[in-house]
Amino acid sequence: MSPAALFGMMRPMSQYEKHVFVCTHGPYCWYDGDVDAIFSTLKRLVSRNGLKDRIRVNRSGCLNQCGHGPMVVIYPEAVWYHLVQVDDVEEIFQAHLLNGQVVERLRYNSPPGNNKTTGHYPSPVHRMKQMEQQLDQERQAARDALRAEIASDAAPTADPPTSPLDA
Ligand code: FES
Repeated sequence: MSPAALFGMMRPMSQYEKHVFVCTHGPYCWYDGDVDAIFSTLKRLVSRNGLKDRIRVNRSGCLNQCGHGPMVVIYPEAVWYHLVQVDDVEEIFQAHLLNGQVVERLRYNSPPGNNKTTGHYPSPVHRMKQMEQQLDQERQAARDALRAEIASDAAPTADPPTSPLDA
């Protein structure tokens, strides 16, 4: 049975049957593993198996579990994985996403809520948080500039161009 057919036996939910979040934009998980490669490998496996319309893989910001990452979360079952490395991705895909079996050796079991522990990181790593804030500000400035450009394009001009049909 193909992965897509196998997956079709599971109950549909919302726009996607499964939603996977990889902490790629948090200030710490990037230091604990190659979060971009984890993300892109998951995307590639989903795509290659014809599941793009059923499993959504998204980047996420910090999930408040810094120090335990890289973190990957799968909904709707709300299973959290920690210490995930690129070599683990195929197993998560095959076992969990295709067959509904949680990869127990990577399952994250911590109390609900914030479980950040960041004191052990080298001091340069902490600067990423500040850099993320700067990037957010740049993104906001870019959006504001685009909104202003769109608004000025939409504003009526004093002398609208005449059409030959008006003659
Ligand atoms: S940086 Fe990934 S959980 Fe905080």
